[in-house]
Amino acid sequence: MTFNNVTVSQIIILFTIYSFMGWIIEVVYRSISQRQFINAGFLSGPFLPIYGFGAAFIIGLQSLIHPWPLLMELIVYGLVLTLIEYFTGLAFEKIFKLKLWDYSNYKFNFQGRVCLLFSTFWTIMALAFVTFIHPVVLRYVRSFDESLLRIFPIVIVVYGITDFVFSIASLAAFKRKITYLYSEYFNLTDAEIEKILSSFKRLRTAYPDLRRYINNNINTGIKNRMSTFMKSIQEKIVLHMEGRKAFEHEFYDIISDIQAHDEFLKLKLHHHHNSSIYDHVMDVSYFSYRACKFMKLDYRSAARGALLHDFFLYDWRHHDVPDLPAEKNHGIEHPKIALANARKHFTLNEIEEDIIRKHMWPLTLVPPKYKESFIVSFADTYLASKEFVNNFKRNKALKREKKRADKHKPRKKRGH
Ligand SMILES: [Fe+2]
Ligand SMILES: [Fe+2]
Repeated sequence: MTFNNVTVSQIIILFTIYSFMGWIIEVVYRSISQRQFINAGFLSGPFLPIYGFGAAFIIGLQSLIHPWPLLMELIVYGLVLTLIEYFTGLAFEKIFKLKLWDYSNYKFNFQGRVCLLFSTFWTIMALAFVTFIHPVVLRYVRSFDESLLRIFPIVIVVYGITDFVFSIASLAAFKRKITYLYSEYFNLTDAEIEKILSSFKRLRTAYPDLRRYINNNINTGIKNRMSTFMKSIQEKIVLHMEGRKAFEHEFYDIISDIQAHDEFLKLKLHHHHNSSIYDHVMDVSYFSYRACKFMKLDYRSAARGALLHDFFLYDWRHHDVPDLPAEKNHGIEHPKIALANARKHFTLNEIEEDIIRKHMWPLTLVPPKYKESFIVSFADTYLASKEFVNNFKRNKALKREKKRADKHKPRKKRGH
């Protein structure tokens, strides 16, 4: 059986060659733009079938429209390739809930699946392809001898099906592992978590939005679970000063060396939400201490880690100091700075290090390792937002007060 004097075997070989060429284009482009080797695409092997299909469409179209003016030919190529790209992306997202590419940051994109720049690029590629590449490759494939033409298509079809099934299975396994990681997070060791995360390294680099996917599925999931739990016990954790008395002695005993340290006392000079950093960390530390004691966790490490979680000595609103240049993001950088300062002046255990390093999670992708870290992170957000709300209420009350005072002020009499 032949199409335009090309046999089915030759078509399979051409499809394989063009899928391979497509893979090379993608690997080169993405490896350069992401500065690391990226094995692009859904299959594990070096093939991107979308290029094979694109090539087949272009060859078929060319035989139909070739006598047309060049501009018309270009428009048809561009339209067809854009449609192929759009529907492949759409189908993949609907079936596997993952994006293979994402043009959301490009100008004139449509739903992130296609964009003007790449459609133009495909159009030029299509013209170069039918004019220069395909004739040469076709001549080459036609020169293959009979036995090769018989064996190769069988081998490649068997290989293709195997790779396809394997890739689907590995995607399914990936989703299973994510679910497992999420449900068993607190029972797994560091090594086990690392093993699971590294087992989908290829997938992680091949799919542009996998980071977001992991973030949504593990991080947000765990965070919500912790927050719900914390809210349920919040009532029981007495935060009022009267409630402090019975625990105060032990609490201050745990933190005494840090609290008396000269360098740490400098936190009193730096303004945080609406008090000093010192007041803020004391509150977070006390809350975390009480919560961990209540939950029979390591309240000692929680109190100390929490006390040091914002150990940075600059004003985060207007920072441009040797510790943190203005162009760097305070939210992401300050846990590292706090950790370095804490290490310089105190000896930290693993839990305390984890508390300081990850208290801004999920800004940091890797979730905290200990329940104590989650509690400090929760306490930090909870108390900071409470401080913010109080501040807001206070300002509003002050404004109202001022307005009322202004109203009752005797008006200045105009001149005579
Ligand atoms: Fe912080
Ligand atoms: Fe904080």
